[in-house]
Amino acid sequence: LANGLAGTPPMGWNSWNQVRCYDLTEDVVKRAADALADTGLRDAGYHYVVVDDCWQATARAADGSLQPDPKRFPHGIADLADYVHSRGLLFGIYAVPGSRTCAMANDAYPASGIGSLGHERQDAETFDRWGVDYLKYDWCNADTVDGLDRKAAFEKMRDELAALPRPIVYAISEYGVSSPWTWARPVANLWRTTYDLVPTWESVLATIDQQAAVAVHSGSPGGWNDPDMLQVGNGTLTADEARAHFSVWAVLNAPLFAGTDPAKLGGTDLATLGNAEAIAVDQDFAGGQGRRLAAGPGYQVWGKPLSGGGFAVVLLNTGSTTATVSADIPGAWTVRDLWAHRDTGTGVSATLRPHAAALLKLTPR
Ligand code: GLA
Repeated sequence: LANGLAGTPPMGWNSWNQVRCYDLTEDVVKRAADALADTGLRDAGYHYVVVDDCWQATARAADGSLQPDPKRFPHGIADLADYVHSRGLLFGIYAVPGSRTCAMANDAYPASGIGSLGHERQDAETFDRWGVDYLKYDWCNADTVDGLDRKAAFEKMRDELAALPRPIVYAISEYGVSSPWTWARPVANLWRTTYDLVPTWESVLATIDQQAAVAVHSGSPGGWNDPDMLQVGNGTLTADEARAHFSVWAVLNAPLFAGTDPAKLGGTDLATLGNAEAIAVDQDFAGGQGRRLAAGPGYQVWGKPLSGGGFAVVLLNTGSTTATVSADIPGAWTVRDLWAHRDTGTGVSATLRPHAAALLKLTPR
């Protein structure tokens, strides 16, 4: 979307993978903002603090406007956005084009009429007034429940946002169902390409496999493929699995949204999320996002061009025993291992534990 925003894949924190619905409060969001600042993640690029589903009161106000749950957000959203801004961060929020949010559809969140259907302009103006910098607009069965057309519904909110004085990054999600990589570039700054990622290796690997077909439709500045938010630090993911997840997201030019409590991150996962060399790969767009270059029983190779004639490679051991994974990348290279933070010579090869990945930066020699 040519709105001058998201020139690089947006980065930040989102509440959903950390607290989902009922544990979301203004304190959770404030503590996340504090921790992003205190851990150095903010300065590593994690700028957007996004409040996902379940922030809403169970009904709209008398004048039809959205309002936050008064128990969990007693000081209101404008106050929370001010706090986030005071920590040197940007503020995001969640809404849906239909009548029911995803949590209302899936978790029986007892709220009604808090979707933006029929309130698009009013909601956009509310977000503008509150100081919102990023909107996640999430489909949530709006076709079956409300009979909406996806593209038209997403365009409607795009146009309302465009009319506002405030620059607002526009993130849409219909879970990749109608191949948004073929139509969403003029509509949004990022579009989900998958159903929800959950914090297991099976889910990470399934998403990686699914991105092989999506990735040939490269994102580009202003419009990025979004394989869903990070699960680093969550569930059953080991440190190796979390690094493998992050490595592939980096070559995909994926938006990077931490979804764990940044104040409770262990040293290894904090180092994963905060790895400046890996983040630099994610933020570098040299004409095409990463693609899968090779795959076979027990291994995958992903790669993408870097600016300056370099190349980023992910060597991934998908098997259950330690294995050496190699790639033949035409050219003569100096190779740097971005997890070990050291130059390793000239070979594009690594011996890897099960579910581990090497993220390599190749520089022409
Ligand atoms: C959907 C989205 C998630 C999250 C939830 C909230 O499942 O894909 O990212 O926003 O809705 O209910």
